[in-house]
Amino acid sequence: MKWRLRRAVPEQTSEPLVPSRENLPGHIAIIMDGNGRWARKRGLPRIAGHHAGMSAVREIIRACDELGVPCLTLYAFSTENWKRPRAEVEYIMRLPEEFFRTEIEELVDRGVRVHFIGDLERLPRYTLDIVAKTLEQTQHNSGMTVNFALNYGGRADVLAAARRYAERVQAGQATWAELTEETFSRCLSTDHCPDPDLVIRTSGEVRLSNFLIWQAAYAELWFTDVLWPDFDRRELHRAIADYQRRKRRFGGLK
Ligand code: FPP
Repeated sequence: MKWRLRRAVPEQTSEPLVPSRENLPGHIAIIMDGNGRWARKRGLPRIAGHHAGMSAVREIIRACDELGVPCLTLYAFSTENWKRPRAEVEYIMRLPEEFFRTEIEELVDRGVRVHFIGDLERLPRYTLDIVAKTLEQTQHNSGMTVNFALNYGGRADVLAAARRYAERVQAGQATWAELTEETFSRCLSTDHCPDPDLVIRTSGEVRLSNFLIWQAAYAELWFTDVLWPDFDRRELHRAIADYQRRKRRFGGLK
């Protein structure tokens, strides 16, 4: 069998590709990678790349909202990212404070509902405070959903779901006979969203890195060499336009 991983192809035209509003992905999930390399290329410390990455987050939320994409998940910090130097981890953990302080008004105006997925218990107090505040300020919004994955790991998500289901059985709220892919999915952290249709990874790395491993089983994958701080609306449009040209068969023949 011949495997071919899709990468962004050089554009034939200088015209921006605007995707059709028909057949938009219901859920886009993004592995935001390449902040460190973006900074290094400019002779800056790695944290400057993370800071610049916030502007790309703002731009991509706006672009998805304006296109009408109902759900976006952003991989901001993985369960493995704790292995980084303490100062870098602390810097990333402080970013949500700055981001939501400056963005909350626009997010609320747009009707964006923010969720956080991942094991939040290990997050520092200052991150938890802004997480709680943002959840509260956006809880009644009924527009697009944006999930920030913080201390998120796909395997941990699946394990937590298994525990949750077992607890429901123990409490008499479910039975083992009722355990199906669908009832199990309802125990995952992404219960409030459909499975991702499109997973994007920036920076040229071609792997999932423990991101939404259950949920992305049938997702279309898009890899681009563009580093996350340079990923903009135009790149997003290219990814979606490519997604719209694909024939999804979900294991069937059509
Ligand atoms: C991976 O790039 C990036 C991260 C681990 C952090 C991502 C965080 C942001 C984009 C900002 C998030 C914003 C909010 C609001 C939480 P890398 O550091 O691994 O890059 P490299 O592979 O080039 O070193």
